Amino acid sequence: MDLRKQTSKAFPAHLAWGALLAIASAGAALAQAPETVPAPNPVWMNTSLSPDARATALEQVLTVDEKIGLLHGHTPIIWKERPADFLWTSGYASGVPRLNIPPMRMTDAGLGVTNPLGRRQDEGSTVLPSGLAQAATWDPSLAREGGAVIGTESHANGFNVVLAGGINLARDPRNGRNFEYAGEDPLLAGIMVGNEVAGIQSQDEISTLKHYAFNDQETGRFIADVQIDEAAARESDLLAFQLAIEGGKPGSIMCSYNKFGGVYACENAELLNNILKGDWHYPGWVMSDWGGTHSTETAAINGLDQEDGQEFDGRSYFVAPLKAAVAAGTVPQARFDDMVHRILRTMFEKGVIDHPATPATINYDLDAGVSQRVAEGSIVLLKNANSRLPLAPTLAHVAIIGGHADVGVMVGGGGSSEVTPHGGYAYRVRHPEGDFEVWESYSNSSPMKAIQSRLPQAKVDYEDGTDVTKAVAAAQDADVAIVFATQWTSESVDAPDLSLPNNQDALISSVAAANPHTIVVLQTAGPVLMPWLGQVAGVVEAWYPGSRGGEAIARILFGEVDPSSRLPITFPTSEAQLPRPALPGYASMLDARKTTGNPHAPPPPFVIDYFEGANVGYRWYESRKLTPLFPFGFGLSYTTFSYANPKVEGGKTLTVSFDVTNTGARAGSDTPQVYAAQVLDGGTTSIHHLVGWQKLTLAPGETRHVVIRAEPRLLATFDTTKHSWRIAKGSYEAVVGRFAGDRVLRAEAKISAWQFRP
Ligand code: BGC
Repeated sequence: MDLRKQTSKAFPAHLAWGALLAIASAGAALAQAPETVPAPNPVWMNTSLSPDARATALEQVLTVDEKIGLLHGHTPIIWKERPADFLWTSGYASGVPRLNIPPMRMTDAGLGVTNPLGRRQDEGSTVLPSGLAQAATWDPSLAREGGAVIGTESHANGFNVVLAGGINLARDPRNGRNFEYAGEDPLLAGIMVGNEVAGIQSQDEISTLKHYAFNDQETGRFIADVQIDEAAARESDLLAFQLAIEGGKPGSIMCSYNKFGGVYACENAELLNNILKGDWHYPGWVMSDWGGTHSTETAAINGLDQEDGQEFDGRSYFVAPLKAAVAAGTVPQARFDDMVHRILRTMFEKGVIDHPATPATINYDLDAGVSQRVAEGSIVLLKNANSRLPLAPTLAHVAIIGGHADVGVMVGGGGSSEVTPHGGYAYRVRHPEGDFEVWESYSNSSPMKAIQSRLPQAKVDYEDGTDVTKAVAAAQDADVAIVFATQWTSESVDAPDLSLPNNQDALISSVAAANPHTIVVLQTAGPVLMPWLGQVAGVVEAWYPGSRGGEAIARILFGEVDPSSRLPITFPTSEAQLPRPALPGYASMLDARKTTGNPHAPPPPFVIDYFEGANVGYRWYESRKLTPLFPFGFGLSYTTFSYANPKVEGGKTLTVSFDVTNTGARAGSDTPQVYAAQVLDGGTTSIHHLVGWQKLTLAPGETRHVVIRAEPRLLATFDTTKHSWRIAKGSYEAVVGRFAGDRVLRAEAKISAWQFRP
């Protein structure tokens, strides 16, 4: 039986800004309150009061030191004075034990609940497919279900703050953390991550949207200074955060390491006070990334509410110095109260005080089932020449090559998101890269075993791929050769380039030359180059596919499920197509490492100029008329679909309707996408933006009518002088396609001019 709390329905692609709770002005007694034992049934435990009223009541009886305790967090794995109630996890900030207010026990968790350095004795966690894989489902309800798995396992481990979801836009496919995020489009990322957050919080947990903002590469992440004009920032990366906040209502936001406009993100008044808390009325709290706090007064006044991972800061900005600053008035008392209030009202609102996280039994089977469904919905079929796929159950001889496919699938990338898989590791190798201990790990879900179980009579050979001659020999006589290629990336390091590492391109080419029926199954962090694409019969992108990835891959390969996912990120033909062919700071980092002899030396401070503005990903390709290897939104099915009868209504936004028919002989899923642009003089248009999509499963011959209402901010530009979104009056075209740049249907309608709040 599913004992998990039911999550509410996933919010659809177009959700108006919900009414946010007013933030009570926390003007109450802020000076040192005497430490008293509360009366039974204190007023703050009255659940009929609002979270703000409850927090305000509690604040009256807290001492200054108790308040300070809420405002700074430690890293238990390196913190020396651990209290008795700590757990081995990523973060800990005090509660108020005498009043039964629990500490904030924080766990990393984008791909599942983590166990840093394996210190905790437990049974491991369910591994979800990577963040990019979750986005590739284009299915908000799957994102929500995945989030609920993370929330459930976090709660059952005694944690109440989850450090997920990650939503930095994929401005560069080499970013070592893209696998934790949701791709390159603000609407897709905002909707998917917002639903993940809502799923996590459905389990009486606080979810943390991160890393705010523009931490879009790992090279020089502590010092890089991102420069972009305000309108472009609002129309791209910030819009992704805004949509996820509206949809998911995360209790906390983690500010990032990098600088933005010359100022560290965690003391950046523009990002924190003006945009997040001002324009967006965000009522939760801002926590720093671990080592992301750089000051006391500046950070506090400019909007940081909690210093976290203070061991990484080298000093405790929000302990004695904050207390002294409040006493001296250099941090106003009202601001100090606001910091405290934001944390407490969120703890009440999200249920972590009323339903404390306590150790409980985890239904791993149930959770792995969700992970498998997410994986099946996320594996993208990129090439299927002559319909070589799905594989026939009559195959007599299969060669499986590489990727440790005999034992398992990749668990994820390296860094703070690394999950210890329930069921143990099949294989692990430590990587010297990175600022801390990082591992390339494989969990016990063998694609080879899953394939063999579907072909009990067949001969299934395995070669690990390190010896190309042996791999070719194995492939030669087989009916089909399946090469499992991998690309592992990690937090704190970017991929040096987009080529598959470890000679895998040569391996694939040689195998394909020996057997034209070669299928490549990729397990990669994100886009990779495919110099062998023309030689192989099929390509399947499986990302990091989670706890039951082997089974999910086999089900796709044998057609037990139709591949229904679509790319959430563009695959370029080469790095030369990217806005910045050379990754900023990369060469100077290599120089610094060579000169100092320190393998972890950072580059000297540098600027990243986002001159492409809001033209991230597919928008960039359109603006430069570039044809990528595989476009954003692309993915094949085992059946075919047609689109017909487009209608577009104008007014304040576009409402697009059309019919989708499954024209093939088998059931399948499709994700028609709507891109819109303003029609300009001379027959040109502005750059097209994804304004909506729908994922639907159709029986052979079935037709369904689809109606998509465009999110207005995707039609608007941000007017910095009027400080509002502005939609220009005029004709707009809506294009219905299977991917960015595809134009199956087109229709036009007029929109009237209007402006709306930021
Ligand atoms: C990462 C965060 C993570 C934190 C705590 C930092 O290095 O950037 O994403 O949540 O560590 O583990």
